[in-house]
Amino acid sequence: MATFKILVLPGDGIGPEIMTQVMRVIEWFGERRGITFDICEDLIGGCAYDRYGKPISDAAVELAHSCDAIFVGAVGGTKYDELPFHLKPEQGLLRLRKDLVLFANLRPAVCFDALIDASTLKPDVISGLDLMIVRELTSGLYFGEPRGIFDHESGHIGINTQSYTTEEISRVARAAFDLARQRNSKLCSMEKANVMESGKLWRDVVQRIGDAEYPDVALTHMYADNGGMQLVRNPKQFDVIVTDNMFGDVLSDVAAMLTGSLGMLPSASLGAKDKDGKVPALYEPVHGSAPDIAGQGKANPIAGILSFAMALRHSFNRPDDCILLENAINAVLENGIRTADLLQADGKSAATTTQMGDAILASLDAISE
Ligand code: NAD
Ligand code: IPM
Ligand code: MN
Repeated sequence: MATFKILVLPGDGIGPEIMTQVMRVIEWFGERRGITFDICEDLIGGCAYDRYGKPISDAAVELAHSCDAIFVGAVGGTKYDELPFHLKPEQGLLRLRKDLVLFANLRPAVCFDALIDASTLKPDVISGLDLMIVRELTSGLYFGEPRGIFDHESGHIGINTQSYTTEEISRVARAAFDLARQRNSKLCSMEKANVMESGKLWRDVVQRIGDAEYPDVALTHMYADNGGMQLVRNPKQFDVIVTDNMFGDVLSDVAAMLTGSLGMLPSASLGAKDKDGKVPALYEPVHGSAPDIAGQGKANPIAGILSFAMALRHSFNRPDDCILLENAINAVLENGIRTADLLQADGKSAATTTQMGDAILASLDAISE
């Protein structure tokens, strides 16, 4: 049987706390479901800067290239706020995404029935919600040139550049159309074609690909500002959303609150299939290093664990095991076990990060018997 080589990068803040629980789940699947993992661990983010003077070492990037899947906890911290951009913790993650050409970032927002009361929105707005945001991840404002802070007659000028080529739009659009086909065949593309040239090109390219290659998928377009409003007003109108790097970052945090907490949203960042059929892949929660709760055992590990569930589907060809893990998490939530972020009312007792991990492992044991 194949051995999957994986790279684990716990990172900063709550990242290591989350990753400890993800590792327990990975080990459970190794022992109980016979998936063989060869696990390497390295540093990313502020901890890598502290050790190597840069947010990821060249050796770690090289290792990442040789792996079947990479798991990241989270990066960042206030301690690094004044570093120049190329040394900031976030650059470790951006370098990995760019170097491995992980252009399609899948961010599913699913509302578990048990969590309907955890959301700040009304139950009928979110019950049964299951949408997928596909965020372009290796171009746009995050990577466009020129960028920098330069001298200016008024003092300084800060510049970032939004740019998209036809190819960059096409490949993420095809990834989104393919996903839509596996779901409800509905795709909504979001940009600002009304004010941005890159948005106009984005809209035209997505429409052209839809017409030529995916006539069976119902394609619509929406300005991203309206998209943010519609996500809160009536999120169930959407099935798959495709959008650029910056809008996707913001809209996926908005979508997170539809599920009850940012601590619930996993992600998979995928590249193109190589000649051996291998797809480079990185899995990480959508949330960050949460400095406000780091080191307190309060972090919700579910986004990290659901990211491993996505890996079972997309990297390890184990869709049944993916469903098993999602069911185990569902059962835990049905039993009323909640980390603090999922509790609206005061006075209820919250599970710690470790207790949530314990409950998910016990649930896996129970439902796989
Ligand atoms: P954040 O996502 O870290 O936190 C936002 C809020 O959500 C905080 O109140 C936090 O406590 C809460 N939260 C986040 N994850 C949670 C979890 N698993 N369980 C319970 N509560 C959770 O965003 P921020 O505060 O804007 O950024 C903090 C740092 O994280 C920054 O340095 C930022 O650059 C970085 N960041 C990293 C990633 C990543 O590594 N992928 C993503 C986003 C932000
Ligand atoms: C995310 C994060 C990252 C981003 C940062 C940490 C680089 O916010 O993954 O959503 O902006 O893409
Ligand atoms: Mn983000």
